[in-house]
Amino acid sequence: MPEESSPHHRRPRYRGTHPRHFAEKYKELDPLRYNEEIQKVMGRGHTPAGMHRPICVNEILEILHPMPGERGIDATLGFGGHSSELLKRIAPNGHLWSLDVDPLELPRTEARLRNLGFDQSLLTVRRMNFAGIGKLQPELGDGCDFFLADLGISSMQLDNPERGFTFKQRGPLDLRLNPERGQSAAALLKSITAKTLAKILTEHSDEPNAEQLAQAIFTHREKINTTTDLSEVIQGALNDISQHIPEQEITKTMQRTFQALRIAVNDEFSALDQLLRNLPTVMKPGGRVAILTFHSGEDNRVIRAFEAGKANGIYEAISEEAIRPSVQERYDNPRSKCARLRWAIKK
Ligand SMILES: C[S@@+](CC[C@H](N)C(=O)[O-])C[C@H]1O[C@@H](n2cnc3c(N)ncnc32)[C@H](O)[C@@H]1O
Repeated sequence: MPEESSPHHRRPRYRGTHPRHFAEKYKELDPLRYNEEIQKVMGRGHTPAGMHRPICVNEILEILHPMPGERGIDATLGFGGHSSELLKRIAPNGHLWSLDVDPLELPRTEARLRNLGFDQSLLTVRRMNFAGIGKLQPELGDGCDFFLADLGISSMQLDNPERGFTFKQRGPLDLRLNPERGQSAAALLKSITAKTLAKILTEHSDEPNAEQLAQAIFTHREKINTTTDLSEVIQGALNDISQHIPEQEITKTMQRTFQALRIAVNDEFSALDQLLRNLPTVMKPGGRVAILTFHSGEDNRVIRAFEAGKANGIYEAISEEAIRPSVQERYDNPRSKCARLRWAIKK
């Protein structure tokens, strides 16, 4: 569009030298135009708004060893960082199926990957839950050479206050990976008992103050509609327990509570269990599997499934120890800190 006919947009105004709120970060949200700004943000150890930095890329490529002509699945497309590395290595005659449940981010990522030249002959992008991975079988022929799952949520989801994943910014208390299905976290809180909530907090994030927090949230549930409403109730409950809880502990409690609710709202453990059960049916003999987890509830499920698969003769080899991001990666990208990578080879 010619310059003179384009409408004039005033840039978002923010206080201070750096934008703090997601909507003000218009440069980070437009990486093609403001690449220099993106590099500066990453240099400060942050993830630019609207982006996700892929974790353990070299370690994953070493395990999966994707080769030209091979077929694979990336069960958690996200921003497409892992997918694009896999695609470069399986071209020209390979094929990658990249899946995600998120209807908001998925089309953006697909457009980005198509712009990079990954066409339909090389890449199928599918909006689906990886729990139903067995449904891909008819398209996969004799199965996959490699499989990747990078569990949890992307930075785009976490940083966008409209999605309600973070206690750090005010937004609707939603926490759904697919906001078109199921109920939001705010609705869930209004429909369960204090006892069920305490169980969710304990089983999904080992919350030590689960009972007290659950009781406080249950008491105030009708008024909890935003991320800030929930944070205030948690803060109040912690104050009732002790006036001297260190700031760091308060932050950890917030993180654990939001994580536990996210897992419940998206039924994440049952999706992971189904994935682990169905995974061997889509793999070729000798096929390589890599799974990146971010907390013990996920990691323990992967360990159990791989060990059982080895004992039953489904997998010929599995990782003995989890692989951790390098010290440098943990420093450069603090969001990689909790990651654990495990692998298995199909018999
Ligand atoms: C950590 S991000 C993946 C980041 C990606 N590897 C990258 O390089 O950008 C996890 C992604 O998995 C998706 N996801 C989580 N659970 C899922 C499920 N059960 N089925 C499909 N996608 C899922 C989330 O929506 C999110 O986009």
